[in-house]
Amino acid sequence: MLVSGKELFTAAKKGGYAVGAFNLNNMEILQAIIEAAEEENSPVFLQASQGGIKYAGVEYIAGMAKVAAEKAKVPVALNLDHGTDFSQVVQCIRHGFSAVMIDASRYPFEENIALTRKVVEIAEPCGVSTEGELGKIGGVEDDIKVSAADATFTDPQEAAEFVERTGVDALAIAIGTAHGVYKGKPKLDFERLEQIAAATDIPLVLHGASGVGDEDVRKAVERGICKINIDTELRIAFASAIKKVLAENPDEIDARKMLGPARDAMKEVVKYKMRLFGSSGKA
Ligand code: G3H
Ligand code: ZN
Repeated sequence: MLVSGKELFTAAKKGGYAVGAFNLNNMEILQAIIEAAEEENSPVFLQASQGGIKYAGVEYIAGMAKVAAEKAKVPVALNLDHGTDFSQVVQCIRHGFSAVMIDASRYPFEENIALTRKVVEIAEPCGVSTEGELGKIGGVEDDIKVSAADATFTDPQEAAEFVERTGVDALAIAIGTAHGVYKGKPKLDFERLEQIAAATDIPLVLHGASGVGDEDVRKAVERGICKINIDTELRIAFASAIKKVLAENPDEIDARKMLGPARDAMKEVVKYKMRLFGSSGKA
């Protein structure tokens, strides 16, 4: 069933686990995520990035996701990932998204608050949950690029003010993760995470979680992370499976013979993450 992201955030915060948020761009990816959630009896966020919306179109993403969510026995939220502007948020809400992220982290503090607050004011009466971002998460996700020099960690006191003044349901924080493939081992600032959690008491979101070690993920969940975004590791699983099919049979022309194994490989990654995040069995 399709539910508001708020429902998933609230249950995760209460239960001390994190719900995985996985990016979808086509039907096979969507099926991989939903099948994993059903098999694990786990709540799940489906999410569409800027690149995903550009690739598939918001109508297709929303249409497919709603069909899958309505068929599913587990609670599913459909989230706009890194929403860039107000009109895109409105468009997604109109198409039936049940969660929106507004990422105004590129703006100065006051402007970030103003745009995020504007989104909360329209989303809340629609029963749609909101996620804001404070601090700048480094790395590359589709068109959003933040260099290591521009990445800045979230300040706990600013986070408390941001949450208070915007009224967001969840907050994405920068504590050392980055989007895309890591060059070295990511170093997470757990002390900062503890300070942010103590100052805000709001469900916190970890972006750029692909490539973060299992032990660090567990530590982050124990310290208040309630939603974890994964995209890159799914892409790797999907692409590796297709490469394997083509390496074994270079003459293969049936898309289903490539996308089927890719879907299966991706499903296994999603299931693994759900168990790691503690959301398995929590539907
Ligand atoms: O918003 C999406 C995620 O933060 C993706 O992170 O590149 O580490 O998978 P990732
Ligand atoms: Zn992200």
